[in-house]
Amino acid sequence: MEIDRRAFIASLGGTAAVAMMDSEAKADSLEHYMEEQLDEQVAANQAREKFPTVAEIEAQIETRNYRRGAGSLFVSGRGNVKKLTPMPKNATLKDFFELRFAPANHVLQSATRALKTGMTEEVILACLLHDVVLNLIKVDHGWWGAQLFEPYIPEKSTFAIKYHQALRFFPDSDAGYEYPDQYLRIFGHDYTPPPHIQSTYKMVRNHKWYMEPRLVTVNDLYAFDPNAKVSLDPFTDIIGRHFKQPKEGLGNDNTASSHMWRTLSNPDAPL
Ligand SMILES: [Fe+2]
Ligand SMILES: [Fe+2]
Repeated sequence: MEIDRRAFIASLGGTAAVAMMDSEAKADSLEHYMEEQLDEQVAANQAREKFPTVAEIEAQIETRNYRRGAGSLFVSGRGNVKKLTPMPKNATLKDFFELRFAPANHVLQSATRALKTGMTEEVILACLLHDVVLNLIKVDHGWWGAQLFEPYIPEKSTFAIKYHQALRFFPDSDAGYEYPDQYLRIFGHDYTPPPHIQSTYKMVRNHKWYMEPRLVTVNDLYAFDPNAKVSLDPFTDIIGRHFKQPKEGLGNDNTASSHMWRTLSNPDAPL
């Protein structure tokens, strides 16, 4: 077993404290320290065993009648899909939250955290919208999500949505973001992100707007208080100030992403 000398000395209170110890005390401390390290290693190995491997996850592909990247509006986890309430004519973002994205707990809780911790309105808006495209498609959802919202929101919020996906794979403890257990579970503990994610991370890490998507990941928590009540109401003003609601309604406004809103509106269309 290798010992990190500096960490060991620090654990005893530094070099001055070590100098005061006799050799028997030093030997005892070293033994104790090694036992602790070993316990930690065993715990880490057990944690790794809890999570599947990439190969195990891949072996599940042919056990399903859908692909993992399909949007949640298109696949029901429990029984048959339900008939959807038609969207109103001049559908707003709020209508989509209520009729297509509900209950939207994850994004509402992320945005609530961002609001409570005093983040900028661009970041709060990005948190509120960062994962709603998962209703449409899950594969590369950062890029799809950014494309869905780009015509309507500030550039910084689009940037944050686009790149939060890549940053999720790279811890930044200074910013308060660790690699999530959830990712060990859904990608496998031996997963390596593909080249486009790696190169995107490198680009964003050096970008002047790095903190925008990084703060989305910081607020992107899965361990929530199940009793916490969340709603869209606290975000009405931020949406009013930063979301360019088209008067024709989302889907009828002929932007680069109108077809995506129409797809969310009517996922039962056969063609
Ligand atoms: Fe996400
Ligand atoms: Fe998320």
